[in-house]
Amino acid sequence: MKVSQKAAKSFKVIGREIHVWPVSVWGSDSVVTRFESLLSPDELTRAATFRFENLRRSFVLSRGALRVLIGSFLQAPPEKLLLILGSHGKPGVAQPGAGSPAFEFNVSHSGGIAIFAFSSDCAVGIDIEQIRPLEDMRKVATHFFSREESEDLFSLPPDERERAFFLCWTRKEAYVKAVGEGLSIPLDSFQVTLRPGEPARFLHLNHDVSLAQAWTLHNLEVASGYAAALAYRDAPRPVRLQPLIEMEELLNLVG
Ligand SMILES: CC(C)(COP(=O)(O)OP(=O)(O)OC[C@H]1O[C@@H](n2cnc3c(N)ncnc32)[C@H](O)[C@@H]1OP(=O)(O)O)[C@@H](O)C(=O)NCCC(=O)NCCS
Repeated sequence: MKVSQKAAKSFKVIGREIHVWPVSVWGSDSVVTRFESLLSPDELTRAATFRFENLRRSFVLSRGALRVLIGSFLQAPPEKLLLILGSHGKPGVAQPGAGSPAFEFNVSHSGGIAIFAFSSDCAVGIDIEQIRPLEDMRKVATHFFSREESEDLFSLPPDERERAFFLCWTRKEAYVKAVGEGLSIPLDSFQVTLRPGEPARFLHLNHDVSLAQAWTLHNLEVASGYAAALAYRDAPRPVRLQPLIEMEELLNLVG
């Protein structure tokens, strides 16, 4: 199933849809102040621990954007949402009322972009990375990737390797984040496709090909110079990928 790239802005997840919102993490002082007013006391304490002002602002903006988006989907005031952490640190949102379906989301940020995935009933994992030169690519790939992935990567022409490296990296991170167990999953215990142009998919999970077929991986084209991926355990679902938006536009959108 294809990712719909020019999805109309909507805060209603219909059926099996997964909505993906990439946001440019930049804002004027007044925008940062507006997002700051949405954070919980714990989040404000966390914001205060950042030593560098640019990192503090990025945290405030991306956490504030997460609250605004979840609040819009759940029709709840963003500042009243109770964000909770799973056992390995995967964030979730507490929802009043037993029996209401779990609202699932995941978050990633890199190089000034935060990206958020939302589903009404399916655990999702999302990852974005700014594509950049890596001096020790061979060492990192050998350490983190499966043997087959490393071989695939270094069989590519040198000018394709940087992109392929980050396609592989984001796909693996998206899987680990969908499962929610962080790096307790050995990253070399599963294999993804990584060749530019080749469809994103799992080749095996824990060396089991049939398990891999129960999962879906999407390549997300968010902005040039970035690699991004979405993973979940289900047959392919309709994915509504929003165009990259600015923080101020996001505030205006939700009023
Ligand atoms: C936290 C982790 C899940 C991803 O971290 P990351 O890629 O460095 O950072 P990202 O920006 O993509 O993701 C961070 C977000 O993931 C979410 N997250 C944290 N723990 C998570 C978990 N167990 N499961 C799912 N999501 C998680 C949080 O929302 C966090 O954002 P926040 O701190 O603003 O709330 C973890 O896997 C990690 O530290 N990875 C290290 C990177 C690595 O070794 N990668 C090898 C790839 S081959």
